[in-house]
Amino acid sequence: MSASLAFITHILLNNNHITQQLAKEVEEFVQNNDLDYSVENNLPVMDSVINETLRLYPPQTTFISRCNPTQDFVYEDPSDGKHYTIPKGIQIQVALYQIHRDDNNYPNANHFNAYRFTDRSGNRVNMGTNGEYSVKWQPFGRGGRDCIGKTYARIVLKLILSNLLLKFRLNTTENTARDRDLEIVYKTATMTPKHGIYGSVSAQLP
Ligand code: HEM
Repeated sequence: MSASLAFITHILLNNNHITQQLAKEVEEFVQNNDLDYSVENNLPVMDSVINETLRLYPPQTTFISRCNPTQDFVYEDPSDGKHYTIPKGIQIQVALYQIHRDDNNYPNANHFNAYRFTDRSGNRVNMGTNGEYSVKWQPFGRGGRDCIGKTYARIVLKLILSNLLLKFRLNTTENTARDRDLEIVYKTATMTPKHGIYGSVSAQLP
């Protein structure tokens, strides 16, 4: 959670126009709604920014399939028709970070695009079971053993960001890392900002 929040803050510090748009979205939302569970389905721009940040910076960079095949399984790669045999009993480690950063899966994969996962009407696009990104976007894993806390995590992120943006303005400082200059520590299965995220906040005037 904290790593996700750190990466989202990094994105917001580097994309002021998006931050302003998120703040506007939240301000409009709270005019008629409480900040509660309903944030999950009613803040489309924030939703897309969180999804895109988790794509670029998945805090858990890999996970292991627990469904070990009981017999050899021949997999046909739909992109080139080649066949690969997965021997029985093997565990498969999913190259999550690489899937998310592959230009074949995402045009300009290394670039932040706030609207990658939302259409002009604010609807979440192509994320469903059969959607284009169904297996290309996996920050919470995929399948029967995916992250049990994913909805909770998304709601908490949205509530924290909403409260932050309603009360404070985010400002860069001389120590704020610029876009891809952010140094990252990769451990066995996680990634976190090496030196944290530097910025400052100032109170929003009423
Ligand atoms: C942004 C925050 C989070 C991210 C990116 C994340 C990511 C993941 C990933 C990639 C997996 C592995 C899925 C797999 O192996 O198929 C996982 C599993 C899991 N997560 Fe999360 N997670 C987050 C937050 C949370 C929270 C807040 C909770 C609990 C409140 C939680 C509880 C779990 C549990 C219990 C599992 C194991 C599920 C199982 O083995 O069946 N996660 N998470």
